[in-house]
Amino acid sequence: MKIVMIGAGYVGLVSGACLADFGHDVICVDKDAGKIADLEANRMPIYEPGLAQLVKSNVETGRLSFSLDLPAAVADADAIFIAVGTPSRRGDGHADLSYVFAATREIGAALTGPTVVVTKSTVPVGTGDQVERILRDVAPDIEAAVVSNPEFLREGAAIGDFKRPDRIVIGTTDERARAVMRAIYRPLYLNEAPLLFTARRTAELIKYAANAFLATKITFINEIADLCEQVDADVKDVARGIGLDNRIGPKFLHAGPGFGGSCFPKDTLALLKTAEDHESPMRIVEAVVQVNEQRKRAMGRKVIQAAGGDVRGKRIGVLGLTFKPNTDDMRDAPALAIVQTLLDGGAEVRAFDPEGMEAARPMLPDVTLVGDPYAAAEGADALVIVTEWDLFRALDLKRVARLMALPILVDLRNIYPPEEALAAGFSYTSVGRSAVSGDFAAVQPKMAEDAATG
Ligand code: UDX
Repeated sequence: MKIVMIGAGYVGLVSGACLADFGHDVICVDKDAGKIADLEANRMPIYEPGLAQLVKSNVETGRLSFSLDLPAAVADADAIFIAVGTPSRRGDGHADLSYVFAATREIGAALTGPTVVVTKSTVPVGTGDQVERILRDVAPDIEAAVVSNPEFLREGAAIGDFKRPDRIVIGTTDERARAVMRAIYRPLYLNEAPLLFTARRTAELIKYAANAFLATKITFINEIADLCEQVDADVKDVARGIGLDNRIGPKFLHAGPGFGGSCFPKDTLALLKTAEDHESPMRIVEAVVQVNEQRKRAMGRKVIQAAGGDVRGKRIGVLGLTFKPNTDDMRDAPALAIVQTLLDGGAEVRAFDPEGMEAARPMLPDVTLVGDPYAAAEGADALVIVTEWDLFRALDLKRVARLMALPILVDLRNIYPPEEALAAGFSYTSVGRSAVSGDFAAVQPKMAEDAATG
């Protein structure tokens, strides 16, 4: 199979590298000459575990290559995947499809024989019909079937998700296109991953429905967490207690500072727009968007409260800036709103993130970025864990406490058992569990002395 991937961004690059690894010939095309040059030198434009190695080995075998020349690449391709960005359109929240349509026009102009055009980008219901119309206009004599094949890749786990998917959704009623898609994913269904064939519009909606449902699940447990704090219950146990019910399932029930990232915020908004356009209200998703938006700032206020109600002139350490671990992605990261709330309150913020510092720097110009977690703790009046990087799971808490001006730990991802924080002398605030206060003087002798001498 000769496959072309239009867009060497997150989705296109991971999908292209994985399809090459299945034995197909894949060309990843992008307009960004710098990106193509970097990829040819095995420099990845994003941080994704395992990606550099996967790209390198497939480039070496000759199955994977990169190009700026779209017309040459697509001319005799068996399948052309469109994996360009569909950001939220400024102002109205609609998905911006200009990149998808521009790519479609270029593809149409370059086709020389029958092919299958696959939309991998997350696109609103009905986009496939528009893509088909454009192709018919630009290349009326070419037989080009249009398929919707949404991706369900999680950043940080994308290669595993591609190679061991829960399902592969293929939206087309065209028999030839179905056969091509079956051949492309053959290694996966041999592995028993279900191939779900649907109508094209249905496949497009499945993607949005899946993301909106997951966003709802997270938002639901976040609100249960707030209630837990009021009634002295433990949200981790509540999540376990409901998650053991097979009908609910244990995943996506981790309470935290609210969802962020490149998908959930944008896709929930786009789904609402589609619902509005078709006068079919989605009140639950509306509430999810609103509750999640308010939550991020509320988490900033939670930190201020834990730090005594006022952070003016205080130093706050922040651990984790990316929207989740194992990525360098800062898009819609809860850390942005949390840090802004702290800065607005007059705090000095010092932050550390294992992979996200470069992306964070221009977005958080008023934050001092430091080289490791302990530097973030130094002299701080409170320390906040915003992202659950593994690196933060096994900190020497006593050392952290000794470094701080005041031993206040706010764990917005519930990664520490309260007893452990207590044993290190912390006042410990988490999400959906009662706050606890340890004996700081016991671990910081100097403080005990200061207290004794008044
Ligand atoms: C998501 C979907 O999982 C994926 O299928 C889709 O293709 C793209 O969007 P991603 O955005 O990479 O993937 O990350 P995910 O792991 O789903 O997390 C999204 C957000 O929800 C993060 O901010 C994460 O911290 C948050 N989250 C997730 C929680 O707060 N609690 C949870 O239990 C799970």
